Amino acid sequence: MEIRTFGVIGAGQMGAGIAQVAAMSGLNVIMNDINEQLVNKGLDGITRLLGKSVEKGRMSSGDKDMIVSRIRTSVDLKDMEAADYVVEAASERPDIKFKIFSDLDSICREQVILASNTSSIPIGRIAANTKRPDRVAGMHFMNPVPVMKLVEVIRALATSDETFRVTWDLALKFGKTPAEANDYPGFISNRILMPMINEAVYCLYHGVGSREDIDTVMKLGMNHPMGPLALADLIGLDTCLAIMETLYHGFSDSKYRPCPLLRRYVEAGWLGRKTGKGFYEYD
Ligand code: CAA
Repeated sequence: MEIRTFGVIGAGQMGAGIAQVAAMSGLNVIMNDINEQLVNKGLDGITRLLGKSVEKGRMSSGDKDMIVSRIRTSVDLKDMEAADYVVEAASERPDIKFKIFSDLDSICREQVILASNTSSIPIGRIAANTKRPDRVAGMHFMNPVPVMKLVEVIRALATSDETFRVTWDLALKFGKTPAEANDYPGFISNRILMPMINEAVYCLYHGVGSREDIDTVMKLGMNHPMGPLALADLIGLDTCLAIMETLYHGFSDSKYRPCPLLRRYVEAGWLGRKTGKGFYEYD
């Protein structure tokens, strides 16, 4: 089946980024979230980022308008019946994702592939909420989506070769480099990245160093583009905690226990850039 209309569930930083790269690749996009305010915020963000590309002379304003016009916003999941492929990028909570997949399964045509941008929840658990587990895969983008080259494509036990290939090819169409991962909590990316971030939070918690010194060590000593605490703020501390919980419970291994300081920040609503405060403060 030819993919012309691409559905995205969630208009947050990941969903909007995915909608943007899909529209830039020439697909028509339906970007769905639970209310108008969220979808409008997502679309405004895309328009602003594309506007920056126009200012930098990398894109004509005609191209920008064309890309934006390919994105239709939606607050009714039923609109996904028009989609030829759907990727879900809702909050990193199993209950939310399971409900979305169960609903999508009854809304979307039988042959439509349903992918999840989950950062850690096993795809097999998500697929079990549908009657089409062979047409469910992981399509895991990195933040900021328009900039980062990687898409981790996750094959669950029941994912068919055809579903995997279509997802892989879509990542290529979006100008990304796909990498294959098997279906274990955190896959490859967050199995490695998140314990490093969690350990950086432990360093702060134990007073090994200040936030600036911890980030400077990793930036200048290991050549990371940003320090782990600044990166946690970019990803969202609630997402970081959710991923550590998934690793901890998924492997029943204490080496993945989330740092109590991370939990304290999340409980205080200090979620990083999106709330204006995490390990650092933002305007
Ligand atoms: N959206 C779109 N574009 C963005 C952006 C955003 N949020 N933030 C920065 N950019 C663009 C800038 O416009 C700029 O573009 P040009 O080169 O075209 O001018 C470019 O990225 C570089 O930006 P800056 O010069 O402002 O800053 P920088 O050089 O420090 O780069 C960065 C910013 C790309 C975020 C870089 O610091 C970086 O790569 N950080 C690491 C990001 C990372 O590790 N992401 C993965 C997180 S894990 C994840 O997402 C998965 C998960 O499951 C949790």
